[in-house]
Amino acid sequence: MKFCKNILITGGAGFIGSHVVRLFVNKYPEYRIVNLDALTYAGNLANLKDIENAPNYVFVKADICDFDKMCAVMKEYDIDGVIHLAAESHVDRSIKDPFTFARTNVMGTLSLLQAARQHWGGQWSGKRFYHISTDEVYGALELDAPEEPAPYGSCFFTESTPYTPHSPYSASKASSDHFVRAYHDTYGMPTLVTNCSNNYGPYQFPEKLIPLFINNIRHGKPLPVYGKGENVRDWLYVVDHARAIDVIFHNGQVGDTYNIGGFNEWKNIDIVKVLIKTVDKLLGNPVGHSDHLITYVTDRAGHDLRYAIDSSKLHRELGWAPSLQFEEGIELTVRWYLDNQDWLDNITSGEYEKYYEEMYSKS
Ligand code: NAD
Ligand code: DAU
Repeated sequence: MKFCKNILITGGAGFIGSHVVRLFVNKYPEYRIVNLDALTYAGNLANLKDIENAPNYVFVKADICDFDKMCAVMKEYDIDGVIHLAAESHVDRSIKDPFTFARTNVMGTLSLLQAARQHWGGQWSGKRFYHISTDEVYGALELDAPEEPAPYGSCFFTESTPYTPHSPYSASKASSDHFVRAYHDTYGMPTLVTNCSNNYGPYQFPEKLIPLFINNIRHGKPLPVYGKGENVRDWLYVVDHARAIDVIFHNGQVGDTYNIGGFNEWKNIDIVKVLIKTVDKLLGNPVGHSDHLITYVTDRAGHDLRYAIDSSKLHRELGWAPSLQFEEGIELTVRWYLDNQDWLDNITSGEYEKYYEEMYSKS
């Protein structure tokens, strides 16, 4: 079968990547979608069961740090476009093991950039290298007044906010962003970078706040809230992030950066209360049944206080806006995890139990 474009999506077996792969495979039957993933603890092919036999879908198990393999994949599938999501993505893990983050996020991105550059040989027409990054590279914002309702401050991250990463994770992502821009400025590679806020939705690994807490509420386990629970995050439904990636990949201005966010700031403790209320309601428990599970624990080292993204450029220039209200998105999400207990059980057995013990036993 002849395809009009060959798109390499890295990290497609992870949380956001699986939504991007699904969207592209279903929406663009004329493209061949090559999902390249190392299947680390965070990668799971069960996330893509519904499209695994699609005629325009190929899976390649490989490590982005393997430069020779990246060159071979570029050649074998004659790749025109790269959407790069593969990364180590959990801040707490980066605090324990920064080397792995530097390796994958920095060296892995560089290996992919260089493989694309060699394959394209300076013929940039019709080519795109799109790097998915995070709002965490911008550092942390203040709360104007702790008791005010959201937005909690008058400042937001814009595309020109200087980079001030604080965690090994965000430092590694910042470094990879700089390499991508350097390939644009030095070699003329047609690159795009986006910086997105916190995603939530189906298929997120249950080490991150929302799926971890839904699972714990269901099992009557403590909910480890870091510090006082006053940190603020800006939450976006993952399918809306995938929609933004589609719009930007096709219509974004080459060399440019776009922020993606939900204009949807929440304090952690308020999110936790919404999760308790929603899980209890859907399980038929009385109101307040799981409130006692809230457990304040030692704060995350270097915990960024507030993230808030100004995504008005993306709205103004490319017409993207989130499609779901948070209340709808969170109910869909809680329902999905409750209905897909097998998916959770499969990944929370074995190695995960060890991680959970080590992570939370000393708190
Ligand atoms: P995830 O941890 O769920 O998935 C990462 C995927 O990358 C996994 O499938 C894993 O197997 C794969 N991977 C890891 N190392 C690899 C390597 N060396 N070679 C090939 N594959 C490898 O992450 P996610 O939450 O889906 O995040 C995806 C991307 O989006 C990341 O780049 C992350 O920095 C960025 N991001 C995430 C969020 C969020 O809220 N989750 C927000 C903004 C940006
Ligand atoms: O902002 C975008 C980033 O969002 C992405 O780049 C990261 O890949 C993604 O993991 C996410 O980072 P956070 O650190 O914000 O997400 P996490 O779900 O780990 O934590 C959300 C908030 O909840 C944060 O303030 C820490 C807090 N938290 C988290 C966990 C896991 C707790 O209080 N208790 C917990 O057990």
